[in-house]
Amino acid sequence: MKSILWIKSLVMCCMALLVSTSTQAQDKSMLWSRQVNGQLWLDTDGNHINAHGGNIIRYGKTYYWYGENRPYSGGSTEAGISVYSSQDLMTWKNEGVALATSTEAGHDIQRGCIMERPKVIYNKKTRKFVMLFHLELKGRGYEAARVAFAVSDSPTGPFRFIRSQRIHANQWPFDMDEAAIRAAQQTDASQWKEWWTDAWRREVEKGMYLWRDMKEGQMSRDMTVYVDDDGKAYHITSSQENLTLLVSELTDDYLDFTGKYNMVAPGGQNEAPCILKHKGTYWLICSGCTGWSPNEARMFSAKSIWGPWQQHPSPFVGVAQGNHEMPANKTFGAQGTYIYKMNGKPVFMADIWNPRHLSQSLHLWLPIEFDAQGTPVIRWKDHWTH
Ligand code: GAL
Repeated sequence: MKSILWIKSLVMCCMALLVSTSTQAQDKSMLWSRQVNGQLWLDTDGNHINAHGGNIIRYGKTYYWYGENRPYSGGSTEAGISVYSSQDLMTWKNEGVALATSTEAGHDIQRGCIMERPKVIYNKKTRKFVMLFHLELKGRGYEAARVAFAVSDSPTGPFRFIRSQRIHANQWPFDMDEAAIRAAQQTDASQWKEWWTDAWRREVEKGMYLWRDMKEGQMSRDMTVYVDDDGKAYHITSSQENLTLLVSELTDDYLDFTGKYNMVAPGGQNEAPCILKHKGTYWLICSGCTGWSPNEARMFSAKSIWGPWQQHPSPFVGVAQGNHEMPANKTFGAQGTYIYKMNGKPVFMADIWNPRHLSQSLHLWLPIEFDAQGTPVIRWKDHWTH
């Protein structure tokens, strides 16, 4: 009798084990086949995709997703920039570290630096993959405010670090005339201890921080890169203490700046720039500056990449469903990183940051729709098919 009971409980244990492993397998395959916004997204090894603040490119029949490889705790970069590959944008294989940090003391990308918002673009002329990213030097917080360049012959790397730099030292925006330059030269940032007053704002609009950083070069933090239909590439970055965006033209090999640039929304405090071109109009979707906490998105449009840019309300509408409250005026709890076109249809890629465990930050992808006037609208969806 005793032994029959024992066999019975053994059988029940085995059955329970079988059911639980098959449920796990089913959960994973469900996530692979439809990554759910607001939940962990697993790669083919079953690990959450550790590619944050990044972008996607298509090369041949394969998609590559680049992003910040973040440690479980701490805000600095240990490994480098991740790359994942996919044939269908849903099942992602970890291809390892595309650009690794350096073990050399004093190197710009020494382990412990901060690498953020990597963007990879393919140069058809040179047949090279070019990576630009925001770099902060080890031990200096966010004060270095540099952009860095790396290059590779293969989409999965290894990328070779080229250099990091401030931008446009001793160069004025191409559209500032002599009177505007003289007005900027009369500002003095060291005098303004109190920010956000009307008088301070007027000085920012004149180019107070542009002038302050003229010799050293302009700051470059949150950034994106955009390749236009004619193959010309542009770097768009949050500069001047995150107060003003700069749009800069890159050289034909995408490895340097031509020197042509201008300012967008001086004093507007825009971060996390994402850009899309739709029926001849450029749409720029940004966040405000509240660090890892979500805020209301901002949107601008222009007929030329050089502006003039017109501001619109945030494209986010409605409320997020699912497991947490994420209203549209908090960008559903996320901050944009890139707009990727899937089969010609734009998708807004964003990060739901988890500052305590940055590697666990969630991914949010939502299709961008257009209203009757052709203005972008972004609504919450748990999941959707491409
Ligand atoms: C955010 C920015 C992130 C990261 C963070 C650090 O505003 O978009 O990329 O820099 O601040 O606090």
